Amino acid sequence: MQNTTLTAETIIANARRHASEEDAKALSNDEELRRQEAFLDLAKDQTRQLAELLGRTPTYCVVNFGCQMNAKDAEKLCGVLKEAGYEESDREDADFVVYNTCTVRDNADQHFYGRLGRAAHFRKSHPYMKIAVCGCMMQEPACVEKVKKSYPYVNLVFGTHNLFRFPEYLADVYENQNGDFDPRGRKLYVVWKDTKEIVEDLPAERKYPYKSGINIMFGCDNFCTYCIVPYVRGRERSRKPTDIIREVERLVADGVVEVMLLGQNVNSYGHDLTPEVSFAELLAAVAEVPGVKRVRWMTPHPKDMGEDVIQVIASHPNIARHIHLPLQSGSTKILKRMNRRYTKEQYLDLAMRIREELPDCAITTDLIAGFPGETPEDVDETLDVINTVHFDNAYTFIYSKRTGTPAAKMEQVPEDQVKAGFDRVLAAVQENARERTALLAGSVQTALCEEMNPQEPGYVTLRLSNNTLVHVPGDASMIGRFYDVRLDTCRGFYYFGTVCGENKRGY
Ligand code: SAH
Ligand code: SF4
Ligand code: F3S
Repeated sequence: MQNTTLTAETIIANARRHASEEDAKALSNDEELRRQEAFLDLAKDQTRQLAELLGRTPTYCVVNFGCQMNAKDAEKLCGVLKEAGYEESDREDADFVVYNTCTVRDNADQHFYGRLGRAAHFRKSHPYMKIAVCGCMMQEPACVEKVKKSYPYVNLVFGTHNLFRFPEYLADVYENQNGDFDPRGRKLYVVWKDTKEIVEDLPAERKYPYKSGINIMFGCDNFCTYCIVPYVRGRERSRKPTDIIREVERLVADGVVEVMLLGQNVNSYGHDLTPEVSFAELLAAVAEVPGVKRVRWMTPHPKDMGEDVIQVIASHPNIARHIHLPLQSGSTKILKRMNRRYTKEQYLDLAMRIREELPDCAITTDLIAGFPGETPEDVDETLDVINTVHFDNAYTFIYSKRTGTPAAKMEQVPEDQVKAGFDRVLAAVQENARERTALLAGSVQTALCEEMNPQEPGYVTLRLSNNTLVHVPGDASMIGRFYDVRLDTCRGFYYFGTVCGENKRGY
C-alpha cells in the first residue's frame, strides 16, 4: 500500500490540506488514524521541548463532567496526553488542563463557567499553561461564543464530533504560524456540526485497571422533548461488533474483569449496520468472550427493550443483574409530551416481566419532576409506578429548562409545585430502595472489590451484581477481584459485610 510508505511529515502536510470539516469527513478510518498517529508523534516532540523548558515532565489534568459517555471520552483525552509524554495530575493548575463539559441541565453550565473562571487565576502565574474546553456544551454555538468572549485565555475548543482529532489539535496549539514549536502557542476553535465517523484504536488511559466502559454506539435519535443530548451528540451510529469484541479481548488481556457497554439508547444498536446486529446478540457475544467476568450495560429505552435482551441476561450469569430502565414519568399524558413513545401500562408490563423472569435483577430508573404540564395527579401516577415496580434505586431530577429543546417553549410548572412533586417522588423512591436493599440481609453474594473506602479507614468497597455496595474490612490487594461476601448489616442503601472467600468466577 502506498500510504504506509509516507513519512510523518508528508502525512501532516497532507492533513493540513484536509483541515476543513467537509474534507475531513471524506477520509477513511485508516487514513484518519494514520493522521492522528503522525500528529501524536509531533506532539511527543513538542512535549520533550516543553519539558526541557520547564525542567520537568509537563503535567495534564482532565476535569470531567456528565455521564458515562463523557467519562469514556475523558479516558481517550487522558490516553492521548499520556502518550504525548505528559504526566497525570489532579490539579487544575497543570500544564495542560482539559474541561470535558456536560450540558444536560442548566446548572451544569453554571457550575462549569465557575470552574473556568477560576482557571484564569492559575493561568496568570503560568504563561505556558494550556486550557482546552470540549464536550457536549461546546456543540452549542452560544456556549462557544461565550467562551471566546468571556474566557479569552482558553487555548483550544473542540466538540464531541471531532474529539478523535485531539492529537492534531494538541500539536497545533503548541505551534506558531510558521509551524515551529512555540510554548506560548496559539488559539484554536474547531467544532463540527455532526459526524458519521467512528475512529477506532486511538489511545485511552483507563481510570480503573480492572473495569472499563466501552462505547458500542454514539448519538441518539430519540429527541425526548426535554433533552439536549441528540443535538450535542448527533445521530445514532453503531460500532461494528468485530471492533467491539476486539476491544473487549484486548481489555481482558490487559487485566479487565468487568466491562460496561455504553450507548444513549442501546436497544437501537446495530440497526445501521449491514448485516444488522441486535443489541441482544452483541450482549451475548461480549458475555461469551473468555475472561469477561461481569458485563454491565446502559441505557435501554423502554419503548424498544425486547424479550431477547431479558433472555440473554437469564442465560448468562456473568451479565449483571441490574437493568437501568429510565421511566422519566409515570403519567401517560406527560410521557406523550416528553415524546417517550410508551405508556405507563407498557412500562409496567415490561418492568413486571423483568421482575418475573429475572427475580434477582435490580431495576433502577431516572425520574424527572416538574416537566411542563405536570399536575399533582400526574405525580400520583409516577408514585403508582414506583410503588408497583419497587425500584431498587433511582435518580430523581428536577426538570431543567434546556434552551434549544421543544419543552423549553412549553408552559413551565410553578416552582413550589415542582418542589412539592419532587419531594413526594424522592420520598417514595427512597422508601422502596430501602425495602429492596434490605431484602438481601444475611445472604452471601458475589461482589467485585472496587476501591478503598474513602470514609472508613481499613475498609474496602465492593459492588454486587445488582449494583448494591457493601463495605468490608480489607486492603488494596483485594481491588479488582471478586469475593463472596456475607451481607451482615444493612445501612439503608448499602451494607457492611464479611468476606467468606475469593470467587474466581465472578458470579
Ligand atoms: N439516554 C439516557 C440518558 C440521558 S441523560 C436515557 O434515555 O435515559 C440522563 C438523564 O438526565 C435522563 O434520563 C433524564 O432523566 C435526565 N434529563 C435529561 N434532560 C433533562 C432535563 N432537561 N431536565 C431534567 N432532567 C433531564
Ligand atoms: Fe435524551 Fe431521550 Fe436520547 Fe435519552 S433517549 S439521550 S433522554 S433524547
Ligand atoms: Fe451530559 Fe453530554 Fe452526557 S450532555 S449527560 S455529558 S451526553
